[in-house]
Amino acid sequence: MMSDFSSWVSARQSRFEDVLKRLLPQADATPQRLHAAMRYSVLDGGKRVRPLLAYAAGELGGAAVERVEIAAAAVELIHAYSLVHDDMPCMDDDVLRRGKPTCHVEYDEATALLVGDALQSLAFQLLSEHRLSDDASKQLQMVKLLAVASGSRGMAGGQAIDLASVGKQLTLPELEQMHIHKTGALIRAAILLGAHCGELDQAQLDKLDRYGKCIGLAFQVVDDVLDSEADTATLGKTAGKDADNDKPTYVTLLGVQAAKKMAAELHQEAMDALIEFGAPAQRLRELADFIVMRKY
Ligand code: IPE
Ligand code: IPE
Ligand code: MG
Ligand code: MG
Ligand code: MG
Repeated sequence: MMSDFSSWVSARQSRFEDVLKRLLPQADATPQRLHAAMRYSVLDGGKRVRPLLAYAAGELGGAAVERVEIAAAAVELIHAYSLVHDDMPCMDDDVLRRGKPTCHVEYDEATALLVGDALQSLAFQLLSEHRLSDDASKQLQMVKLLAVASGSRGMAGGQAIDLASVGKQLTLPELEQMHIHKTGALIRAAILLGAHCGELDQAQLDKLDRYGKCIGLAFQVVDDVLDSEADTATLGKTAGKDADNDKPTYVTLLGVQAAKKMAAELHQEAMDALIEFGAPAQRLRELADFIVMRKY
């Protein structure tokens, strides 16, 4: 029998797939090739961890689910764009993503570039054209939150540090900064955006942000471990890519065992940040377990 958490995850994932299908431009709308490539890169794949975190944070804050999933879609579109660009030959040069050929392999590089551009624009269009809050200034704050998390002080900045670090040995604090930006920032934003759709006070938002910071970093530590330990079929992306590309990771710096220990410590810190929420934060706890224990 499926656990309560597994059924929640499946129900949310399938509901979210429908949301994305509806919000993305249809493949027969002009320009067809770009729209088809956008749908190819976003739909039918991925664990949807960021949207699940947004749903859980939204539920904690008593938010309307229709609002939360617009915010979740915006984050997932940014995430999908970051993967399309991350896989391009000028970055990680990967041919497999979510068990399928990467966007630039299935289409071409110029299309992959435009897919990223267009997904990013669509994300902000969604945040601005749907009613996410009854308070316009709060909604504007949400737009800014995602902009900062995606830009040079967030994900894109982290990717820049990643590329500049090829062949180098970083210190632990440098590696932490890279991971907090390239992966942590969007995960944090997903949680906060979900939370902002509901009614939580600043002290509660700060606790969720602490949870997000820890679990976002843990997410990339686990990604590094999986890259070195798991196989390509399970991952749906090429295993051993970090070593091939000579990237500094938690595994190269600390070794696999210490990297796993670090993920476990971050998991505990994330749990500690949720203590005062009690039972209503159960989904966020389960998601933290999932992030640290996942196999792909
Ligand atoms: C992969 O993210 C890239 C990182 C930021 C580590 P995910 O592991 O969430 O990828 P999908 O969305 O499930 O494919
Ligand atoms: C990717 O990190 C982070 C972003 C896409 C922002 P990785 O390069 O480690 O992600 P994977 O392993 O290719 O999914
Ligand atoms: Mg990369
Ligand atoms: Mg990569
Ligand atoms: Mg990786």
